[in-house]
Order: sequence, then structure tokens, then C-alpha cells
Amino acid sequence: MQFPTTVKVVEVGPRDGLQNEPDPVPTPTKIEFIDRLSRTGLRCIEPTSFVSPRWIPQLADAADVIDGMQRPTGVVYPVLVPNKRGMERALEAGVDTIAIFVAATETFNQRNINASLAVSMTRLGEVAELARQHDVSMRGYVSCVLGCPYEGAVEAQSVATIARELHDMGCYEISLGDTIGVGTPVAARELIETTAAQVPLQRLAVHFHDTRGQALANVLACLGCGIDTVDASVAGLGGCPYADGASGNLATEDLVYMLHGMGIETGIDLDALIAAGRYICAAMGRSPGSRLGLIPRHRRAPRFST
Ligand code: HMG
Ligand code: MG
Repeated sequence: MQFPTTVKVVEVGPRDGLQNEPDPVPTPTKIEFIDRLSRTGLRCIEPTSFVSPRWIPQLADAADVIDGMQRPTGVVYPVLVPNKRGMERALEAGVDTIAIFVAATETFNQRNINASLAVSMTRLGEVAELARQHDVSMRGYVSCVLGCPYEGAVEAQSVATIARELHDMGCYEISLGDTIGVGTPVAARELIETTAAQVPLQRLAVHFHDTRGQALANVLACLGCGIDTVDASVAGLGGCPYADGASGNLATEDLVYMLHGMGIETGIDLDALIAAGRYICAAMGRSPGSRLGLIPRHRRAPRFST
């Protein structure tokens, strides 16, 4: 099997992770967390969302986070934007990259963004128009690509159609989200093959939640199809508040360990990443969801690893 030589890791912990925390994380802690992540070699970090503060109070401080965090050159910081109001707020905050999102199923979309798929696509079209006018880059997400908590199985073909619509709207990259972590490697591979018939493979990313411990196996299957952009969340933080039981994303530390072990470059300093994960877990009074965060440093890289 051929694997890419380099993988871009998209860190979603500050957004996908913290959006699901029961207790609010203070803004200065979020800023320190993001600044630490920015010093690990990551090239893309999702810092927050400009969604409704009534729906996701955890990220109500989005503008303050953007204002307070450092933005070193070479790192891209996409923020989630659901509608025109979110886009106006993001523009006011001075962001230059956004991520729009839609689900592969009607029911999840309705629960997550309170609109049908058709209405959502029209709204996202308006956001895309504003993004073009203001020279803002746009990433895209399709959620529930391997299963929906309300509708069950999802056809790969419907995911591919939505991914193409996001691509046609101008998204530079479309991330396929297994929101509730139901996917397994063969299904993941079939999804990539079907979607790549509609969207260039280099424009696709994968986003696995690790609810059933399948995330790393799924990533490996997708790397074998030529995928070279993978989302992950440091310390395995996260979940989606509108998908009952959705646990954290694949832990970034575990992903980076696997990639480096396979000789795949990421540009990321694993120790600095583990330290950033430990920082946020200590601030929230919990232990890291990545086993690596718990293993003493001298035992992390045994001699037989590459
Ligand atoms: P709504 O209640 O239908 O909104 O929510 P509305 O248009 O009817 O407006 C109602 C009020 O909200 C108005 O204020 C608006 O101004 C305000 P009022 O006039 O009553 O004072 N409002 C806003 N305020 C601030 N920012 C905004 C905004 N929009 C409206 N952007 C809405 C619709 C889409 C806003 C809401 O459903 C929402 O914010 N949903 C976001 C849910 C979310 O963030 N989910 C998690 C992210 S997706 C995810 O995690 C999956 C992913 O990780 C991939 C994967 O895992 O598969 C990406
Ligand atoms: Mg997610």
C-alpha cells in the first residue's frame, strides 16, 4: 500500500473539543492553549466558532479569543461559520479563513443548525459570497458521513454530492466527518473512493471521532487511498453537542505518533503537542484522552519505532 510522504494535521481541539465541555473554559486559558498549539509546528488550528451563543455558549467568547491569540505566519486558523450573522461577526473579528458545515442527513442538519439541507445550502451560498467579496478562504465540512444518530446508515453517494456542492461553492478543502464515530476502515475507504469521483482527492480531508476506537484504523485506510489531510483533537477532546454519545475526536498525539512511526512527515513536535494537551487537561481538571499523554517521556519512542 502506498502512503503519502507528508500529512497536514488540522487541529480541531480548541473548537470541536471545547464546544462540548460542560464547564466553561476561561478565555485566557483558551488563548494560552491555542498559543501553545501554535508553537508545535501545526499548520492549521481551528480556534473557535462564530455560531449562536445560545446554542453553543462554550464558544460565546469567539471574538475575544481571536483578538487575544497570536497568529504566527504559516499557521491557518479557520473558524466555524453557520450563517451570514456568523460571517459578519467573523469579519468584524478580522479572520481570514472560515469553515462552513452541513450534515449528510436532514435530521442531523435540522438538530445541529435548525434548518433543512436545502435552506442550509442557500445560507452557505450567501456566506460563500461574502467570503469571496472579502477575500476570505473557506474550508467545508460534511458531518455524519458514515452514519447518523437519527437516520442510521448514510449513502456514500449523498456525501459525495454534498461535498461537490461545497467544493463548487469555493471550499479549498472538504473535511468528511464521522461525527458519531461509527465508521470502520472498509466503509471509510469506500466513502473516499466514491467522493473522490466528484471532488479532487487532494481537496478531501478526514475527521474521525473515536467513539468506538476506530479512528486510527480509519485514518490508515484513508491514507492508503491517498488522503493527506487529517483532522484531530489534542488529548482526544471533544464531541458534538447535537450527537448524543459522540465522544472526542481522534487524539492528535496518537495520530502524530502513528504518522511519524510510518516515516510520514507532519512538521509537528510531538513532545510540544503532548505538553499542550497536558496543559488544557490540567486546566480542566481531567486526564488526557491520549494514552501518550500519560506515558513518561523516556518510554514514548521505543528503539524499534522509526
Ligand atoms: P437559529 O436559532 O435558527 O437562528 O439558530 P436564527 O437565524 O433564527 O436567529 C435567532 C437569534 O440568534 C437571532 O438573535 C440571531 O441574530 C442570532 P435575536 O434576533 O433573537 O437576538 N444568531 C446568531 N448570533 C450569533 N452568531 C450567529 C448567529 N446566528 C443567529 N452565527 C444557528 C441557527 C445556525 C445559528 C444555530 O443552530 C447554531 O449556531 N448552530 C451551531 C451548532 C454547532 O455549532 N454545532 C457544532 C459544530 S458542527 C460539528 O461539531 C461537526 C464537525 O466537527 C464535523 C463532524 O464531526 O462531523 C464540524
Ligand atoms: Mg467533529
